[in-house]
Amino acid sequence: DFSWKLKDHPKLAKGKTVAVVVLDGWGEANPNQYNCIHVADTPTMDSLKNGAPERWRLVKAHGTAVGLPSDDDMGNSEVGHNALGAGRIYAQGAKLVDTALETGKIYEGEGFEYIKQSFEDGTLHLIGLLSDGGVHSRFDQLQLLLKGASEHGAKRIRVHILTDGRDVVDGSSVGFVESLENDLAKLCEKDVDAKIASGGGRMYVTMDRYENDWDVVKRGWDAQVLGEAPHKFKSALEAVKKLRESPGANDQFLPPFVIVDDNGKAVGPILDGDAIVTFNFRADRMVMLAKALEYDKFDKFDRVRYPKIRYAGMLQYDGELKLPSHYLVSPPENIWCTTVSVLCMQAMKLLNLVTSHFSGMGTDPDVSTRIWKNILKSQVRVNLPNGDMVGHTGDVQATIVACKAADEAVKMIFDAIEQVGGIYVVTADHGNAEDMVKRNKKGEPLLDKDGNVQILTSHTLQPVPIAIGGPGLAPGARFRQDLFGAGLANVAATVMNLHGFEALSDYEPTLIEVADKQ
Ligand code: 3PG
Ligand code: CO
Repeated sequence: DFSWKLKDHPKLAKGKTVAVVVLDGWGEANPNQYNCIHVADTPTMDSLKNGAPERWRLVKAHGTAVGLPSDDDMGNSEVGHNALGAGRIYAQGAKLVDTALETGKIYEGEGFEYIKQSFEDGTLHLIGLLSDGGVHSRFDQLQLLLKGASEHGAKRIRVHILTDGRDVVDGSSVGFVESLENDLAKLCEKDVDAKIASGGGRMYVTMDRYENDWDVVKRGWDAQVLGEAPHKFKSALEAVKKLRESPGANDQFLPPFVIVDDNGKAVGPILDGDAIVTFNFRADRMVMLAKALEYDKFDKFDRVRYPKIRYAGMLQYDGELKLPSHYLVSPPENIWCTTVSVLCMQAMKLLNLVTSHFSGMGTDPDVSTRIWKNILKSQVRVNLPNGDMVGHTGDVQATIVACKAADEAVKMIFDAIEQVGGIYVVTADHGNAEDMVKRNKKGEPLLDKDGNVQILTSHTLQPVPIAIGGPGLAPGARFRQDLFGAGLANVAATVMNLHGFEALSDYEPTLIEVADKQ
């Protein structure tokens, strides 16, 4: 007897335009020279922080609060937006894979059964991000998968690595390659023929997103499938060390390379009868390769050779496209009743400028067609990526400029909200720009061997601000005092309240209350 109808909020009116503004990569941290938000001129966000204390607070944006395995896991856009939209905390990809590996269920599922059929005569290829960032993939999961696959019959394994330097420190690729080569050498002692076959930096090879630049995927295809690349090396360790020597080189953008044998022949092109697993759990930067691997008809680039392979993703990357059709770990339970779908069912117009993450990765049976046209009220959602995108480059000066630009954008939205008598909710999906240096446990900046601080290109573990306001906000509306540990998932109920509705009962509690008298 499920009803889409939400109860009216007893105190908050309907009909206001609500702008939900998400500052990407905008956390709260101590003010110092590596805090680009602090250094930058950000009068709008400053005025919120220094304004009414009952309308500004911090919320958790990392770890278990957003469905990640542990509180040592930094937040990211996928899990952050998921929590913001779903209003509940769902186990995210990283956690689902951990559980499947721990329980051994990964080897019992349809996906593994499928690829296993190639183990007798073919090679198992593992393609993914070599990193312990925990955003797209994790090295320990790759290690477990290598061990498990070989124990379940894989006799010939080729790993196609993508170096990180974005979710982890630049230069860490060397250490990961060393560890991986050690693991593969141990497998070889057990008569498994296991090698690294190709590689390249994640931002230049394979891991493009939103169909921005198919050449990135093509570069990977040429190296991984065809065994062709401008750089050839005898070992992957030699490859990353050498390629990092060129001026300006960094892990994120290493050029593609293939590993060759003594005769100069690629050691691991992908051939008919082989199996492939893309071991990233996060979808956005794997879905393009998944299309190239899975679609018979494909015109994004010339694949030259399209081998007959058995392909499985670590997860299914696109629930709507059912892509890939085989996967090792079952998808998250359907994320029903996201803020988007429920509010649409109340017949709102939603200007949705953010990502599919917000609506449960497209797994919500959703909205799109049903009540879309029935326009009564309006919500605007905007993601401002500046702090995060530039923060990932590790360029502190540029990140300061980016933070200023994001703050100016917030001001423009506030001005628009002022004009329509609306309400704003400003928050962030995770930290990044507020701390650009790697720190030890005591919080002191870490130095590299040359005595320079180690720049942090990744997200952080910091909490993020949330502020509410605007002329449409009821005078007594304020943050509750009793939700000390609240996180991004609590924002969904808050937004529903601001639209004049009570949230669904299984949502994380709202952050706000309405005082009778001010
Ligand atoms: C990326 O994919 O760019 C980073 O690994 C994570 O950044 P995002 O979670 O902000 O997209
Ligand atoms: Co980011």
